[in-house]
Amino acid sequence: MFNKRVKIREAVQMDAGKEEITVMGWVRTFRNNQFIALNDGSSNDQLQVVLELGRFDDTLLKRISTGASIKATGLLIDSPGKGQKVELKASSVLILGESDPEKFPLQPKKHSLEFLREIAHLRFRTNTFGSVFRVRHGLAYATHQFFHERGFVYLHTPVITASDAEGAGEMFKVTTLPFDNTPRNEAGEVNFKDDFFGRATNLTVSGQLEGELAAMGFGEIYTFGPTFRAENSNTARHLAEFWMIEPEMAFYDLEDNMDLAEAFIRYLISYSLKNNRADLEFLDQRLAEEEKQKPQAERSEQGLIQKLEWVVSQDFQRITYTEAIDILLQSPAYKKKKFKYDVAWGIDLQSEHERYLVEKHFKKPVIVTGYPKDIKAFYMRQNEDGKTVAAMDILAPGIGEIVGGSQREERLDKLEARMREMHIPIEQMWWYLDTRRFGSVPHAGFGLGFERMVQFVTGMTNIRDVIPFPRTPKNAEF
Ligand code: 4AD
Ligand code: MG
Repeated sequence: MFNKRVKIREAVQMDAGKEEITVMGWVRTFRNNQFIALNDGSSNDQLQVVLELGRFDDTLLKRISTGASIKATGLLIDSPGKGQKVELKASSVLILGESDPEKFPLQPKKHSLEFLREIAHLRFRTNTFGSVFRVRHGLAYATHQFFHERGFVYLHTPVITASDAEGAGEMFKVTTLPFDNTPRNEAGEVNFKDDFFGRATNLTVSGQLEGELAAMGFGEIYTFGPTFRAENSNTARHLAEFWMIEPEMAFYDLEDNMDLAEAFIRYLISYSLKNNRADLEFLDQRLAEEEKQKPQAERSEQGLIQKLEWVVSQDFQRITYTEAIDILLQSPAYKKKKFKYDVAWGIDLQSEHERYLVEKHFKKPVIVTGYPKDIKAFYMRQNEDGKTVAAMDILAPGIGEIVGGSQREERLDKLEARMREMHIPIEQMWWYLDTRRFGSVPHAGFGLGFERMVQFVTGMTNIRDVIPFPRTPKNAEF
C-alpha cells in the first residue's frame, strides 16, 4: 500500500517514538544538505526531516529542492531545534517528483498576492492560501451542518435555466447555435427554436425561484451552488462565477428571515474560530502585517480574530432604508461632500454608503430593511405604503453587502401586477405563479455570497484570493 502515511499536522503533535513512520509532502526548503522543511497541506505545519550527513547519496541530495515531492520514512525524535517538538530522522527518502529549482516559480520568499494569482495553480502550496482554502472548506462544511441540524433539505437547483431570477439581465447565454449562419426567423431575430433546448437559455444568476417551489413542499430548503453574473464589475468584491447559499422558508416573515440569517452568520464564524483556529491565527498575523503598510488613518482598529469574536458577541443593528438615508444625509461625510455618489431617498446604496453605516456609524453589522421597490426584484413582498418592499440586506464591516433577501410576495394578484409593471414574462413563469395559485403561504429567504463570507472570515481584501480559480472580466485562466 502506497498511501500509508501520517499527515504532518498529526506528526508534529506526536511524541518521539520507537516505530518508524512515513510522511509525504512537498519540500518547502532544503538547508545544508541536511534539513528538509516538509509540508503536506494538512496544515501550515512543516515537519523537519533530517538527513544524516554521509548517509545519503549525492545524486539523491541534488534532486531534493523546493517544490519537489518526497516520501520519507524514519523515527520521530525529540528535536534539539527551536520551534518544533519533534523531527523525523530519515532512514529512507524517495523522490516522488522532482522540481527544477531554476524553473519553479514559487521560491521560498514573500510573493505578492497579485503574482500568486498568476500562478493560481501553485498557490495552494503557500501558507496564506493553505489557510484560506482550509477555512473555506470549513465554512462550506459548517453551512451544511447548520441547515441539516435545523431540518432543511439541501436542494440542487439547475445551473442552466430559461429565466432571469433577479430580472437584472446580467446573464451568460448558453447555446449550441453556430456564430456564423445563425438561424433567424422572418423578423431577423435569432431563432432559438433551433437551439439545443428549443428556447433561449442562460447560466443561472440565482437558484431562488426553484428554491421557492421546493419550499412550498418541504417547508425549509437551502441551495448551495455556483451562480453566474455577466456584470462588468472589476472590483475586489465581484466575481462572474460565485457560490451562493440560498435558504428559502415557508411560514417565515421578514423578521424570521433576519433572525435566521443572523444566526447563520454567527454560526459560521463560531465554527471557524473553533475548528480553524491555527489558520485564523496565521491569517490574523498576515493581516496585521498588511495593515502596517497602510497609513495610520486607514488601518482597522481590530485584529482579525478580535473582529470575529466581537461580531459573534453582538446583535446586528437593524434599521430601515429610510433611516439609513437619514443617517447618511446627517453624516459629516455627506456634509463635507466626501461621498462620490449623491444621497437621496430612492438611490441604490453604494458601497461607500454601506461602509459608512457599518464601519463609521454603527461599528457593527447592519441589517437594512424596507428598500424602495424600484431598486429591488419583482418577487419581493410589497409593503402597505406602496413605495417599499419587505427586503433585507446585511452589510458587514470591510465587505458591504454580504446577504440579500426578502419576504416574498405570496399574493397572486399583487405579484402579477408587479411583474407586468416590470415587464417580466408572466406566461413563461406559469410554474412560479402556480405556487401562489395552489396553497400559497407567507414565505421568505435570502442569499449569502459565499466568497464574501470567506473574505470576511479570512480578512482577505480581494475576492479573487478566496476562490481557487476566479472568473472575472477578461480572465478565465486555469
Ligand atoms: O443580492 P443578490 O443579487 O440576491 C439574490 O440573488 C437573491 N436571489 C437571493 C435570495 O433572496 N435568495 O445576491 C445575494 C448575495 C449578495 O448579497 C452578495 O453577497 C452575493 O450574493 N453576490 C456576489 N458575490 C460575488 N460576486 C458577485 N458578482 C455577486 N453578486 C451577488
Ligand atoms: Mg443584492
